[in-house]
Amino acid sequence: MLPYRIGYGEDAHRLEVGRRLVLGGVEIPGAERGAVAHSDGDAALHTLSDALLSGLALGDIGQYFPDTDPRWAGLNSADILARCLDLVRGRGYVPANVALVITLDRPKLGALRGEIARRIAELMQLDAGEVGVSFKTSEGLAPDHVQARAAVLLVWA
Ligand code: C5P
Ligand code: MG
Repeated sequence: MLPYRIGYGEDAHRLEVGRRLVLGGVEIPGAERGAVAHSDGDAALHTLSDALLSGLALGDIGQYFPDTDPRWAGLNSADILARCLDLVRGRGYVPANVALVITLDRPKLGALRGEIARRIAELMQLDAGEVGVSFKTSEGLAPDHVQARAAVLLVWA
């Protein structure tokens, strides 16, 4: 049994006017556009969920929660993350820290960094100091997308 395992995930959603923008479980106030998705389209929580699964070579959330399956129709991103956390814990590991990068041109998210980190910490049963949240613009290369990338360290507990 490895004492540590690294997980990595990515997700992207297209942005459209008239949608909510939710990142890390926090609704972004004043966002002109939000994520096109079946549920809340929270790219950060989808990314973290995939990172948890990948750390234990468990595949990805599309396999466990296909959006074509009516059973998962109303499943929100926090529930997906909770289920992935259960899978990880069920195999004897817990997350130790996460490093999340969100790429979005507008709006600026810096003022929400603490709130997003605290919310993710709450969902992943971590301290906020174990949740690194970085923001990047795409420098105009992907103005119609929100993108998230995350690494997570899993420890054998
Ligand atoms: O991508 P770039 O290097 O230009 O980002 C510069 C700064 O803008 C960083 O400090 C980053 O935290 C912040 N930023 C932000 N909200 C975004 C994108 C970037 O606060 N949506
Ligand atoms: Mg997604």
